[in-house]
Amino acid sequence: MSESMHGMWSSRLMFILAAAGSAVGLGNIWRFPYVAGENGGAAFVLAYLVCISLIGVPIMVAEIMLGRAGRKSPINTMQDLTVQSGSRPGWRVVGWMGALAGFMIVSFYAVIAGWAVAYLIEMASGTFNGADGEFAAAKFTSLTSNPWTVVGWHTLFMAMTTFIAARGVGEGLEKTVKYLMPTLFVLLLVLVIWAAVSSGHFMEGLSFLFAFKADQFSTDSVLMAMGQAFFTLSLGMGAIMAYGAYLPKSASIVSSAVTIAGLDTLVALLSGMVIFPIVFANGLEPSAGPGLMFITLPLAFGQMAAGQFFGTLFFVLVVFAAITSAISIIEPAIAWLVEKLDSSRVVAACVVGGAGWLVGIGSALSFNTWSDLTFLPGKTFFDSMDYLANNIMLPIGGVLIAAFTGWALSEKIFNEQLADVSVGVRAVLRVLIRFVAPVSVFFVFLMTVFFS
Ligand code: TRP
Repeated sequence: MSESMHGMWSSRLMFILAAAGSAVGLGNIWRFPYVAGENGGAAFVLAYLVCISLIGVPIMVAEIMLGRAGRKSPINTMQDLTVQSGSRPGWRVVGWMGALAGFMIVSFYAVIAGWAVAYLIEMASGTFNGADGEFAAAKFTSLTSNPWTVVGWHTLFMAMTTFIAARGVGEGLEKTVKYLMPTLFVLLLVLVIWAAVSSGHFMEGLSFLFAFKADQFSTDSVLMAMGQAFFTLSLGMGAIMAYGAYLPKSASIVSSAVTIAGLDTLVALLSGMVIFPIVFANGLEPSAGPGLMFITLPLAFGQMAAGQFFGTLFFVLVVFAAITSAISIIEPAIAWLVEKLDSSRVVAACVVGGAGWLVGIGSALSFNTWSDLTFLPGKTFFDSMDYLANNIMLPIGGVLIAAFTGWALSEKIFNEQLADVSVGVRAVLRVLIRFVAPVSVFFVFLMTVFFS
């Protein structure tokens, strides 16, 4: 099939912006800095870079390839490719698991993104000007402890996401990434320059990220780095597969994947270069955890000259990044509903967006009404979704996608999709997809489940 029924990206660049939009999100700006901060900085960054290149890029190539070969929702793409390759029907589970993981991810993603919208408004109205630590912490608690405000912001964010998704691949997704992604890169550069010029602690921030100290390196850093690599590249649940289905035949998969992974890594590192200098300049701790972006950073902005302006820019950046990711998380399920029920895109987007919103209520209430309710042992609904998706579903999905592509997919399809690269590059990729990626993910996955 040369075109998808859902529409097509108008060029390779649009695909790269869309996939980079999916990849660049809360994972880069909110999660990467605090996880790096908690795991010794540079040691974690090094492990992360290794995971991105040896595991992330090959699995991304595999997902795009499957998507483009099938041209349908991940569920039906897996179904068709399984039949075409004469492999076992069990492989289809990859598509179903991915759609399920999508609901789990969007449920907690939209809650955090909702907070970012709330902070954008607070920042712009000068709430944090001159604020002290106590005020910043109290502000965060008062936002999260009220179920109505958390659900309200979550609802607003899901409504925006659903609206964009409902408009379709060309008018909705492509138009959104076409404007938001370039803006996002410019905002980030402005913020890095501001942090470099005005924080006075830029070098300290840099050395925290890049000065490797062997004694801070633990197995735990490796586990966290791999989970982060999957999450940040949107791999393991079919989001990139769904986007690959809309990629024109002539575009190169390998160079696209390398570009997307490169942009994503750049944004994560640049976010670190904005956040850590500001943290150090204000004598704060880099290891503050998930509150780093919502407590530490607003406090720091409140202390700095022109902090209101740059703080507002910062949260605009976060919200843009979150929207272009959220639309990709629900795309696999929307595309499947359209195919299955022959329904319109609008109906499908409302059903999937509505279902994601509903599951998200559980995550929203985890910070207030349901804060004592545990689902997995010792974990709130929010933490359970986060843990199950990131540490279990995405790695399993990733292993299965790589294994299917490497072992079960017909070699003819593999070679056709990678026709633009040399035989040598293809052979290296095949080894990475067949052995290196699945084996290392499986290994790290076992360690996560049994030793942490
Ligand atoms: N990659 C995004 C981020 O870093 C989140 C995301 C979007 C995602 N789509 C995904 C994560 C699919 C896992 C799977 O914020």
